[in-house]
Amino acid sequence: ISLAFFLFIYKLYIIYSDMNIALIGSGGREHALCKKMYESELVNKIVCFPGNAGTANIAVNIEVDILNFKKVLKLIKFHKIDLVVVGPEEPLVKGIVDFLKKNRVKVFGPNKYAAKLEGSKAFMKKICEQNNIPTARFKICSQKKHVQSFLNYCKLPIVVKADGLAAGKGVTICKTKAKVQKAADEIFQGKFKSSNKAVLEEFLEGEEASYFIIADNKEFKFFGTAQDHKRVYEKDKGPNTGGMGAYSPAPIVTKKLEKKVISKIINPTLKALKKNKNPYSGFLYVGLMIQNNEPYLIEYNVRMGDPECQVILPRLKTDIVKIFKNATENKLKKIKIKWEKQKSMTIVLCAKGYPGNYKKNLRITNIDKIKLSKKDFIYHAGTKISGGELRSNGGRVLNVTSIGKNFLKIRNKILTNIKKLKWNYGFYRRDIGWKVINKNENN
Ligand code: AMP
Ligand code: GLY
Repeated sequence: ISLAFFLFIYKLYIIYSDMNIALIGSGGREHALCKKMYESELVNKIVCFPGNAGTANIAVNIEVDILNFKKVLKLIKFHKIDLVVVGPEEPLVKGIVDFLKKNRVKVFGPNKYAAKLEGSKAFMKKICEQNNIPTARFKICSQKKHVQSFLNYCKLPIVVKADGLAAGKGVTICKTKAKVQKAADEIFQGKFKSSNKAVLEEFLEGEEASYFIIADNKEFKFFGTAQDHKRVYEKDKGPNTGGMGAYSPAPIVTKKLEKKVISKIINPTLKALKKNKNPYSGFLYVGLMIQNNEPYLIEYNVRMGDPECQVILPRLKTDIVKIFKNATENKLKKIKIKWEKQKSMTIVLCAKGYPGNYKKNLRITNIDKIKLSKKDFIYHAGTKISGGELRSNGGRVLNVTSIGKNFLKIRNKILTNIKKLKWNYGFYRRDIGWKVINKNENN
């Protein structure tokens, strides 16, 4: 009797703790988040604003402009949402968290002030300067004469950055003084709507890595490492993209380096925001340049990375909704986040022409011909269902992911899966992980 009673109470607990979740965004990152949340025992339903063809299989997609906060709020009330998870940076930087909290909606993500860590390079650099966080030397410029003075004491190449959000297009690495002046002038003249200030930086040599944490107002926990491949072509050639593929973990982030990242970058950042009465909560992703075993901060992102999320989440063993719930209640301390020892990799399938001009609405066939084992995943990014068919709806279209023991074998498995797709309108990099794979074939 006592066991039956216990089970009855447990069932009641499960029924009453089932949550309705809203997920904001439509990329591969959001499909990966959606799939993890779908596996949670705490979830009743997931609503995606607006989602993609992948999330449509496990959640309810609703077409809405995610920057129209009032409309989003109406839908949240209508669907009796218990928790909102925000995927991309733009709504965070524009203050969706503050808006929803004011309307008594529980939401996971940083507020508008804290989101300036990503939303303003000038803000980020000032935080670094005031708190001795290692980063490239810099100057915030709003006029030609500021640029001149930086050129007088910093050697080339110089990195010119737009101060505000620029969808990955705001950074130019300049090898001549004339190019620095031109890139800065374009920013002053309003090339990017978000701000007409430019941040000039010294160029740092080294290897890049991404380090992730999840934070609430009191605590933070490690949330994985990864390495992205930003350039469009193999061997890291060609223009920058949102990311062509990634792997996790990043072997360059050793225990020793991690200690430095935490003590020199993470702790001072969180302390600074607390001191400014806006403690950070949400995912925080620090983009690092590693030079002689020392970490330098290149950028903060106030969200998970895309495609980094698609390699980190397959390795997560703890219920992600429990993690989000604890984080929004400032109880992260109480939860232990466990990770799979296996490695993971993702290759991004793009529409031909990306990151320049590309066609949309291209048919994708054969996707169901790929037999996925428990270790393989296909995350949709720019996809939609149109007339009952799967079609492309963006530049980055699918993320083909696998986990395993060895990066070379994982990559071969992914490439075999991609070949079954026979998508003629697309392209992808076959060399994701080349740095780790060439260094040590046993990796
Ligand atoms: P960001 O948007 O600041 O992350 O810059 C985009 C990319 O530009 C980075 O991932 C780096 O590859 C490169 N980059 C940015 N700042 C620097 C720097 N100071 N030195 C070298 N490379 C940089
Ligand atoms: N993959 C780079 C980013 O998410 O910003």
